[in-house]
Amino acid sequence: MTDKTILTVDNLALSYGSNPILKGVSMQLRRGEVVSLLGPSGSGKTTLLRAVAGLEQAHQGSVTIAGRAIYDAAAGIDIPAEKRELGLVFQSYALWPHKTVFDNVAYPLVLRKVAKAEIGNRVQAALKNLGLAHLADRYPHQLSGGQQQRVSIARALVYNPPVILLDEPLSNLDAKMREEARAWLRNLIVELQLSALVVTHDQSEAMAMSDRILLLNGGVIEQQGTPQDMYSHPKTHFVADFMGSNNTFKGRISDVRNGEACVVIGEGLSIWGQRRSDASVGQEVTAVVRVEQTRLADGPGEHRAEIDLVTSMFLGDRFEYVLHAGDHLLRAWGNRQEAAGKRWLEFPPEAVWVF
Ligand SMILES: Nc1ncnc2c1ncn2[C@@H]1O[C@H](COP(=O)(O)OP(=O)(O)OP(=O)(O)O)[C@@H](O)[C@H]1O
Ligand SMILES: [Mg+2]
Repeated sequence: MTDKTILTVDNLALSYGSNPILKGVSMQLRRGEVVSLLGPSGSGKTTLLRAVAGLEQAHQGSVTIAGRAIYDAAAGIDIPAEKRELGLVFQSYALWPHKTVFDNVAYPLVLRKVAKAEIGNRVQAALKNLGLAHLADRYPHQLSGGQQQRVSIARALVYNPPVILLDEPLSNLDAKMREEARAWLRNLIVELQLSALVVTHDQSEAMAMSDRILLLNGGVIEQQGTPQDMYSHPKTHFVADFMGSNNTFKGRISDVRNGEACVVIGEGLSIWGQRRSDASVGQEVTAVVRVEQTRLADGPGEHRAEIDLVTSMFLGDRFEYVLHAGDHLLRAWGNRQEAAGKRWLEFPPEAVWVF
């Protein structure tokens, strides 16, 4: 642990009954850092956040915040949730319907028996930070979804917790608001120099908002790294699949050479790619290429295959082509409308991963 580390989770395990949910999770959060917990539904994201918060009971491992052990199974330490001093933002916002915005945000300070005048000052400051100063006297039902979400964040921040934990904080917003809110939230976290652990199941949101991403798969961290690292250097098929839009082929290796493998994916159709496992000739593998790396070419050539272009779809900033190659349905992007018919498609070997 370096002195910049604010949260350390070490080998944390948790089961519901006989069902193991977290299977030895280790992670760190540095001061001022935003880390996203990403993973499919049921992978244990909420459970990990709740275990750190003290709302679920782990049975193995430890959690340390700012050098203080708040949970340590071996040492028998288990500080109750309300004494862990963490800011929590739940997916549902969990605002008190019969309290005003001011009183909702003041609540954590009232609980901590802060003096009344100071409560006033701190709540005003938190509301101002979140652009809510003019809504202090409203009740939650008089607010939009985005405003309610900001109240729940103000409430989590009002007592300056060293770490805030956010569980899908943007999931109740529609797609457009969500995109604006993630820029706003990222900006707030950076400006206030918060340290945040944010759960999401949306990979583009995780990439946009965080300094680092932890990808959970079945209660285990499959890979962690910067958004660029996770996107461009996935270690497994699961990571490659989760982090982007892909064309995926099953096939057998027919040849290997200098860290590359040739995969036969259909009759007369094979592609070269980077070997990401020790699979050898004859073995069944999965070849993955990002949709944005799958390019239409102007004619035959090395690493090109003839395919049927079925249709072009206009997506606003680009066209998406739907293509058939043997039994495979593929996608590619380009910047002009293309008529249906035979085309050549290029698979640059450096952009193809073979798992
Ligand atoms: N109280 C509970 N009792 C028993 N099993 C539970 C309980 N809470 C969660 N689980 C199970 O634990 C697993 C992990 O759940 P968790 O809520 O952490 O997933 P998640 O990654 O947050 O998923 P989502 O993206 O759907 O929110 C799931 O299989 C879930 O069914
Ligand atoms: Mg969840």
